[in-house]
Amino acid sequence: MVTDSFFDKQTGLTAAKIKIFKEYIQGYLPKLLTTFEECIIADLFCGAGKNGEEDGSPLVLIDRSNYILTSPHLKKAKINIVFNDQDNANIENLNNEISNVEINDNINIEQITNCKFDSLLPELLEELKDNRLPKFFFLDPYTYSNIKMENLKEIMNLQHTEVLLFIPIFHSYRFASDTTMPEYHKTRIFVEKFTTKGVTDYSGIDDFMESVKQKILADLELDYVRPVLLDDGGKKNSLFLLTKHQAGILLMNKIAIKMTDDGSTVKIKAQNQKSLFGVEESTKFDLFTQRIIKLLENQKNMSNGEIIEYTIREGYTPKYVYKIMVELFDKSKIKVYDSDGKEVISKKQWNIAEKITKEIYFKWED
Ligand SMILES: C[S@@+](CC[C@H](N)C(=O)[O-])C[C@H]1O[C@@H](n2cnc3c(N)ncnc32)[C@H](O)[C@@H]1O
Repeated sequence: MVTDSFFDKQTGLTAAKIKIFKEYIQGYLPKLLTTFEECIIADLFCGAGKNGEEDGSPLVLIDRSNYILTSPHLKKAKINIVFNDQDNANIENLNNEISNVEINDNINIEQITNCKFDSLLPELLEELKDNRLPKFFFLDPYTYSNIKMENLKEIMNLQHTEVLLFIPIFHSYRFASDTTMPEYHKTRIFVEKFTTKGVTDYSGIDDFMESVKQKILADLELDYVRPVLLDDGGKKNSLFLLTKHQAGILLMNKIAIKMTDDGSTVKIKAQNQKSLFGVEESTKFDLFTQRIIKLLENQKNMSNGEIIEYTIREGYTPKYVYKIMVELFDKSKIKVYDSDGKEVISKKQWNIAEKITKEIYFKWED
């Protein structure tokens, strides 16, 4: 069983998941604490603290929080943490691990509970309903049946909230076209609740992931959902960042681009398979390039803000789309203007960047 072996040693897939969690926390906390000074992090399927020799999410969180709070301008910042796991032995082990680490005085481990997610959530939601501090939930269950779409909705309805959700995607994907699955089957329920297309033939795992993304976007009325696929060649898992903030999605895009060849799939055995996957990398980026060109062609005129927003939603960064715009400009496919209608020849003035300081327009030339 997964539960018996999970905490004995860390697999490549788990290591990749924890790396993404770590990188996100490390990028997210300093920005957030600079603005709000205080935040809440809830790791509600936190596990035992360690997976074999390696730190699990709770210890990674404490380590990164300690590190971030050493920054001179965050001296007054405070990080509140909630840990939960249904397994008593895990919580005992976690308490033991925590007692062995030094913890900054401004880290407040508010609660370490030993509950089922279902019974903890209503309490937590009630407690946080008027809380205006930024909140980050890490939901890392073993199976997709632990978390319902309604739970995600309730969590995302809290103010200033982000969720990093783990979904063991491959199991549901493998059976997603099986129309013989009975209605009460856990996989069928998941596929029907968590995809826009339901039980049907998917053209591949990307198609399935996209369908999950679109369903979460629609049901939760969110602007941003960022999936990352973790693939060790055999098993595949996934993480989905749910957020209302462009900055959050941009950070996850950067992490995913850094860890992947194609911006979307972390190949665990990448060392020897890199050249093979290079084909996919160019294909995905080419597809994005084609989509943005089509959009420009249809809309005729797009501002830098619109181009950046589209790019970030598609999983890329301003740096990527800037390169595309340069190429289109050099091929005389577009012309660039400022808000007074004056042509902007200098590419440095285009302001395709994370911070937009002026409006620039990109016009498609027929
Ligand atoms: C994948 S492990 C978590 C690993 C951990 N995030 C880490 O990085 O080490 C999933 C955990 O969820 C717990 N769990 C499973 N179902 C649960 C539920 N319904 N409520 C709370 N915890 C649950 C399990 O006991 C297990 O420790």
